[in-house]
Amino acid sequence: MPQSISGSSAVITGVTSGIGRTVTRTLLADGVTVAGIARDPRRLAAAAEEWGDRFHPVLADLSVPQAVKDCAAEITERLPHIDVLVNNAAECAFDRPSALPAGRWRSLLETNLLSAISLTRDLLPSMAGAGHIINISSVTTRHLSSARYGPYALTKAALENFTAALRLELAATRTKVSLVTLGLVDTPIYEKVNGFQRTRRDLAERVPRWLSPDDAADTIHWMLTRPPHVVVGDVLLLPLHQAR
Ligand SMILES: NC(=O)c1ccc[n+]([C@@H]2O[C@H](COP(=O)([O-])OP(=O)(O)OC[C@H]3O[C@@H](n4cnc5c(N)ncnc54)[C@H](OP(=O)(O)O)[C@@H]3O)[C@@H](O)[C@H]2O)c1
Repeated sequence: MPQSISGSSAVITGVTSGIGRTVTRTLLADGVTVAGIARDPRRLAAAAEEWGDRFHPVLADLSVPQAVKDCAAEITERLPHIDVLVNNAAECAFDRPSALPAGRWRSLLETNLLSAISLTRDLLPSMAGAGHIINISSVTTRHLSSARYGPYALTKAALENFTAALRLELAATRTKVSLVTLGLVDTPIYEKVNGFQRTRRDLAERVPRWLSPDDAADTIHWMLTRPPHVVVGDVLLLPLHQAR
């Protein structure tokens, strides 16, 4: 029997675009209260206007460690109890590991890895030994088709190891820890990546229909609604024709 998540509280990062936006909409539609983190004040305000009272907008640039700490404090003040944390926000880079400037390396690591670790640490007490943490990774950790995926894949590989270690650490509690590894999803992330246009065209020839953000959101909703004794540990979601 699926379990109901109506009336529960979730924290989701990166809610102004792509998968985070769609997961937020899906959970709100199922009666969940969502604290949604994003860095663009204009788009966050528009989302808050659209989503109403059960959506709490939280402004933070997750590449800035103090901003991550501050937003966790703001969330715990607004939501006394947290049931779900989805570490979704990430930025992508497409550059050779030896060429990516130090500042970009730091920003990638802060946003994709260290903010997820910091939020987990600061929000776990509000989950009170239960709840569900879902981290989002990428198939680039399993197969590097180009050196230029390296820096992004490195951050996601570290996030995967953090997820596995956290699942071990929390095994004696009722807290579920899951990883969702995605193949190609049609979101604006690729428009933000310098030098990716040609690779994107090549990928689209091989894989004409990419996953939609709804495909990812449906999977996350399914994971969250499994019975209390079932943990969906790792899911790999690929579009047809993407083998790795
Ligand atoms: N799309 C894919 O093919 C794919 C494949 C594998 C894994 N993933 C993973 O799926 C997750 C969602 O990606 P997506 O495709 O939905 O990307 P997206 O459309 O670009 O959405 C990413 C979200 O994260 C936010 N974000 C990025 N950097 C941030 C920062 N420093 N502080 C606060 N918010 C920040 C973005 O805000 P802005 O809009 O302001 O940038 C946006 O709201 C990511 O973890 C990504 O690595 C995606």
